[in-house]
Amino acid sequence: MIKQTLFGTMENGKAITQYTLSNSRGVSLDILNLGGVIRRWLIPTSEDTTTDIVLGYDTLEDYLHDDSSFGALVGRYANRIAKGQFTLEGVDYQTDINLGDHCLHGGSQGFSKQIWASSVLSDSENPSILLELRSEDGDQGFPGDIHVKVIYTLTEHNRLKIEYFASSSQSTVFNPTNHSYFNLNGHNKGTIKEHKIQILASQYTPIDNEGVPTGEIAVVDDTPFDFRPLTNIALPLSTTNEQIQFGNGLDHNLCLDYYSAESKVATYAAQAQTEDGGITLKVYTNMPGMQIFTANHLSNKKGKDGALYHARHGVCFETQFYADSPNKPAFPSTTLKSGEEFYSVTEYEVLF
Ligand code: BGC
Repeated sequence: MIKQTLFGTMENGKAITQYTLSNSRGVSLDILNLGGVIRRWLIPTSEDTTTDIVLGYDTLEDYLHDDSSFGALVGRYANRIAKGQFTLEGVDYQTDINLGDHCLHGGSQGFSKQIWASSVLSDSENPSILLELRSEDGDQGFPGDIHVKVIYTLTEHNRLKIEYFASSSQSTVFNPTNHSYFNLNGHNKGTIKEHKIQILASQYTPIDNEGVPTGEIAVVDDTPFDFRPLTNIALPLSTTNEQIQFGNGLDHNLCLDYYSAESKVATYAAQAQTEDGGITLKVYTNMPGMQIFTANHLSNKKGKDGALYHARHGVCFETQFYADSPNKPAFPSTTLKSGEEFYSVTEYEVLF
């Protein structure tokens, strides 16, 4: 089922719609056409209680001022592009700079700040909405007119399927993701340090002290990044490892083992569990990387329902290409050529 409500009105009079997608198992999600934000994700945890497992805000104003991409679709290029510069087919490009000297999440007016055209695709068993955005050649400094579509579908199996489609009028780089911060105990329940996580990745991309990959693809063996066995997230966070210091916690790209450039199917990549194993989130994707981010910058941030968010109050599993790939020839290519159709899919499944 889908319910539509008015979430707020922009200064220019444009309405921001909130779509509530719910299934017969009692799961429901609130999604905004502003930034494609997943604002609330409720799961039934007992007869009469629900738990909201994502961080978010109460008001439109809060989303307009957000600098943490809570729940949002980010692009054109999720994560960093060093100095906002890259060369594509012999042409140099300079993008918007919004993180020190670098470009983060496609620039200051990236996808997360845009109002997407929105419509209901299916209102029945597996409720589904379509979000569409046109970004012009030169938007935030990126080349090519691009047409992006994202489909959110909530299945009866408690999976949220996110599909990304894009085409461009000329060669460009493209790397979209969703930036939800999960706390499986509840968005207002404090730290995620007791969560256990697994990520099927034998390699990761080390960063410099500004969070930009050095270009090395390193093995995770004997590092705090070996999440192949189910691992208590407090363990890596408490080490003095230089990489963890550089990220102020976990803010690193893991190279997913089961990635195959040709696959259009979401394959199991990662999971998170509450301490007692009562709630599990599983992540499936066809993308090559996953940025794990432990909300390292949050400090006294006013969230939904009176919550105050601090560092480590959420964890993101951002499925994406590796950061700064346009400048790192050894990383999987993010080039989207004219005439090509980009497709990627990520599914988040909640077991409770
Ligand atoms: C980045 C972080 C950044 C956060 C909020 C993450 O994807 O890796 O460094 O602070 O997004 O935008």
